[in-house]
Amino acid sequence: MRKIAILGFGTVGTGAVESFYYHKDLIEKRAGETDIKYILDIRDFPESPYKDKVIHDFSLIENDPEIAVAAELMGGTNPALDFTKRLLKKGISVVTSNKELVARHGAELISLAKANGCSYLFEASTGGAIPIIRTLGDSLSANVIYKIQGILNGTTNFILTKMLEEQMTFSDALKLAQDLGYAEKDPTDDISGADSARKICILASLAFGKHIKPEWVRTVGIDRVTKEDMAYAESIGAKIKLVAVASKEPDSEKIFITVEPHLVCNNHQLSVVSDVFNAVMVDASSAGRLMFYGRGAGKLPTASAVLTDVCAALTADGSLNNDVWEDCEEDIIIKTDGQEGLPILE
Ligand code: HSE
Repeated sequence: MRKIAILGFGTVGTGAVESFYYHKDLIEKRAGETDIKYILDIRDFPESPYKDKVIHDFSLIENDPEIAVAAELMGGTNPALDFTKRLLKKGISVVTSNKELVARHGAELISLAKANGCSYLFEASTGGAIPIIRTLGDSLSANVIYKIQGILNGTTNFILTKMLEEQMTFSDALKLAQDLGYAEKDPTDDISGADSARKICILASLAFGKHIKPEWVRTVGIDRVTKEDMAYAESIGAKIKLVAVASKEPDSEKIFITVEPHLVCNNHQLSVVSDVFNAVMVDASSAGRLMFYGRGAGKLPTASAVLTDVCAALTADGSLNNDVWEDCEEDIIIKTDGQEGLPILE
């Protein structure tokens, strides 16, 4: 039997395990007989119904010939990078929700997977439940992508919504987002825009075929958004939202990329994206404008994406069509559109 290992039993790991057993019959119909054999974590979970699967020694997984897929749900780069490389070198496919790792090392890990006849899949890294990675990596293969605009961080969208609609304070809204399992371990990554920057890099790398690095992205978080800014937005028929944008002119190598609070006018489609929801708008040569919408964070929505990749990795070569990200230098990036003040989406 081809079995699964879960690396990291936090919010996403718990969601993946619970959702796996809830959907086991369905998953097995689609991907063949399988089971979760190990759950790797540094902690013990004596109260968990899955406590007997919990291990602390990574080498059990990498040396077990029954393991066909590992779901790396730990986050961060250390030890996730080392573990991922060791698994791929053994021909074990890795699926991940780890946007930091994909944004920084995606090109290398995709190549390593190919060289070893397995897959590195990352649907859960961006947009939570929204199937945007496979869309850009497969479904739009015969299109030139011109532009991607999106609300890519559930926590900040949740906070801005609660502040606007329920007059909650910033810190109360953040606390609620943490309690609901939306925020990063260090929520500064959400608030500062760093999480959105990693995600727009992943989408831009898929769309434009160049490996765009998070440190090249002009990134402004929501920490500088004041009540006055929000009142001003309301007075002109707009809302403030943290929007990530990446675009490329068809006849140019240059890529414009930014993450910053935008004034989103109330008649713009992104203005209705509230709470923990994310949305991604894609402008493509033949398909035209597309919009994808769904829950951007949380245990089960993220588990949906993780388990979809697990099924893909178990069934066949689940790799994406256009997943070659060429190396490039920072001078490919345009960081500003030259406008003063908050950008407006009309
Ligand atoms: N902290 C992230 C968010 C989790 O709020 O969007 C999902 O990537």
